[in-house]
Amino acid sequence: FKNIKIALLGSGTVGTGVYKLIERQKDELPHKIGANLSVSKVLVRDKNKKREGINPEHLTDQWEDIITDDDIQIVVEVMGGIEPARTYITQALQAGKNVVTANKDLMAVHGGELLDIATENGCDLLFEASVAGGIPIIRPLKQCLAGNYISEVMGIVNGTTNFILTKMTHEGMEFDEALALATELGYAEADPTADIEGYDAGRKMAIMASIAFNSRVTFNDVYTEGITNITAKDIKYAEAMGCTIKLLGVAKNTDTGIEVRVHPMLIPSDHPLATVNDSFNAVFVHGDAVDDAMFYGRGAGELPTASAVMGDIIDVARNIQFYCNGRIHCTCYKNLPIKKITE
Ligand code: NAP
Ligand code: HSE
Repeated sequence: FKNIKIALLGSGTVGTGVYKLIERQKDELPHKIGANLSVSKVLVRDKNKKREGINPEHLTDQWEDIITDDDIQIVVEVMGGIEPARTYITQALQAGKNVVTANKDLMAVHGGELLDIATENGCDLLFEASVAGGIPIIRPLKQCLAGNYISEVMGIVNGTTNFILTKMTHEGMEFDEALALATELGYAEADPTADIEGYDAGRKMAIMASIAFNSRVTFNDVYTEGITNITAKDIKYAEAMGCTIKLLGVAKNTDTGIEVRVHPMLIPSDHPLATVNDSFNAVFVHGDAVDDAMFYGRGAGELPTASAVMGDIIDVARNIQFYCNGRIHCTCYKNLPIKKITE
């Protein structure tokens, strides 16, 4: 099998998860892609930090080691933040390298311009993990539901705040304690302000609204309000009214324009969204043809997010191998035995 080389930019929660999945899947990947995948470089800030499971020989703190390496065909950006991520992704695309990113901060503001650069250079730029962690939602909006006129996308799209609200509602935990736990579990952003103030959810809503409504919506267009003012008393009052407090994102394509907002809402406790707990996310989409569709799963964390990044990596690798633009070719299947069911 041919070997497709990858560089990871970042080896934190998500980068470590991707590294682990590539290791875990190494015997399976040739059958899915028709080629081997290997990580040849991992960009970090601090090469001396202890990193479980990562081959120290792969570590570098120099972007030049990656951008000048012609053998690297896929750059996986899991560092976060706007700079230097924006510059590195731009340079990678201009050098003909395909890019996979989990970076909603960047995609919610500069996604349009980066996708243009990808198109100009004939490269893939995929970002499934930037919204709702492990839940497949970007590809469904972009591909499976493309035959619809989508009028609304709404749901719970931040795992950290949903985790905090769940712990406050069901376990009586204090806000700060729940946030500390979400951080420890790898759900929160490096600076959790983005989570608790609703900015992270706002960025995800901007990305989804852009795709769903075939338009360009940026984070600046989104109204955001977080959960920092929610108290134990609010939760008790909500309960007494038969309701649950959730941080919801709502994007609507109306006759007078697109509106996108994120804020805490009271929802009846028997509503399906009220039962979405912990780090789970859920997204409802309304299309004129499909009617209602709902997507549910883990919205944050090491392996769920790595799952979405891996899906993108495999998609890009298939394109490299077969020029198949997302179509799964039947040439590299495994001949597993099939059991006959007789009773
Ligand atoms: P993280 O744990 O803070 O890891 C960031 C990694 O990037 C670290 O390894 C860090 O290096 C490296 N890094 C940061 N700035 C760098 C720079 N200027 N040069 C070189 N390396 C740099 O972050 P994370 O939670 O994995 O998140 C990564 C991305 O995925 C973010 O865009 C985030 O929004 C997104 N995301 C995260 C989740 C989640 O559940 N955590 C889910 C979906 C999407 P050092 O290790 O040396 O500090
Ligand atoms: N901090 C984000 C969240 C990570 O809690 O949802 C997943 O995007």
